[in-house]
Amino acid sequence: MATPEAMAEGFDLRTLPPAFYEDPYPVYRLLRERWPVRRLPDGALFLTRWADLDQVYRDSRTFTSDKHAEFAPKFGATPLYEHHTTSLVFNDAPLHGRVRRLITGALTPRAIAGMEPALTALVDRLLDAMAARGEADLIEDFAAAIPVEVIGTLLGVPPEERGPLRGWSLAILGALEPALTPEAAARGNAAVSEFLAYLRGLVARRRAAPGDPATDVLTRLIAGEADGTRLSEAELLHNCIFLLNAGHETTTNLIGNGLEALLRFPAERARLLAEPGLIGSAVEEVLRFESSNQLGNRGVAADCEIGGVAVPAGTRLTLCIGAANRDPAHVADPERFDIARHPNRHLAFAAGPHQCAGLALARLEGRVAIGRFLARFPGYALAGPPVRGGRARFRGFLHLPARLG
Ligand code: HEM
Repeated sequence: MATPEAMAEGFDLRTLPPAFYEDPYPVYRLLRERWPVRRLPDGALFLTRWADLDQVYRDSRTFTSDKHAEFAPKFGATPLYEHHTTSLVFNDAPLHGRVRRLITGALTPRAIAGMEPALTALVDRLLDAMAARGEADLIEDFAAAIPVEVIGTLLGVPPEERGPLRGWSLAILGALEPALTPEAAARGNAAVSEFLAYLRGLVARRRAAPGDPATDVLTRLIAGEADGTRLSEAELLHNCIFLLNAGHETTTNLIGNGLEALLRFPAERARLLAEPGLIGSAVEEVLRFESSNQLGNRGVAADCEIGGVAVPAGTRLTLCIGAANRDPAHVADPERFDIARHPNRHLAFAAGPHQCAGLALARLEGRVAIGRFLARFPGYALAGPPVRGGRARFRGFLHLPARLG
């Protein structure tokens, strides 16, 4: 049987047993306690301590996000390679900064607050539809139905054209799993090609009829910066794909993981029902306790030291956010799910120059979706076994069947 001890002893991201996906945290704890800077069989280092992740995320000179060298043998000359190596998240300066400024300029607190009424109306429509049936799959019918609309609106994708977005996004992100199968690579490559073809048409329409640059990210990306720096066609299209993907699965999983955690910890659910004002800190606790993005990556650009271990340039790093967020050196009583936790400085959105550019939007979606769901269906219960996504990087459920009560 795959015990946590055995899984930690032979830890290899490419061959994780089903028990790991069910509950990776005992394995992470053993790794953090015994081998916090752990060499994996493929030569990469796996980091699990909060302080080590924080150091790496904040120092983008020593720790590079550029994936050209790493992804060339993994993906070959394919659409997936072009996509990932052109996305801001997998680049350093100057491309990273140029794209990031264009995106964050349209994700201001004011622009995000302006999205709340439409988001609330969308969530209420979904709740009405579920109430009429009495039972629902909380992922398919609710959690997954929200981010696609929000990001679709952000980029101005017409509602009737949003159907394929989630499938493309899942296929592209699926190809980032530590173990890449030929089928997953084929699905990912087809998704990038179809997505590019779709976006070429969308961009042409937006060039002909620009939107409001204060709120429309696509219009901003097309226009470029005031100093005249424009994105190339490939940079524009691939960063739109990235944005659509970044905001999808992660936020779906925040909502789904939150609804599942409140089922598993009924006392915390009762507490949130009694004090709905705790929704903000409850969302932070879901982000910490069941981080939807569990793994990050960096390359070492210069010889350095991590947690007292000398690490040469050229080493690849996997940063385990799921483990760092439960590090007792940083978090008091870390295995406890506490919706009023304070302080709660987690790394679910990473830290430093690449920290999630959509974090305020993700938090808003989490608060509105989980808060309104609970107010509407305070007695919801499982109607069947939850089905996990089975991914090490993106932690969440495919299905969460529930009776709404
Ligand atoms: C719960 C939901 C989310 C989680 C857990 C999450 C997590 C993350 C993490 C960990 C990173 C850093 C990746 C790295 O550098 O290694 C990141 C980057 C990013 N995220 Fe999110 N994200 C979420 C939602 C969103 C949303 C809704 C958007 C878009 C509106 C978004 C847009 C981005 C962008 C553009 C980056 C790249 C930032 C950069 O490289 O400078 N994310 N996200």
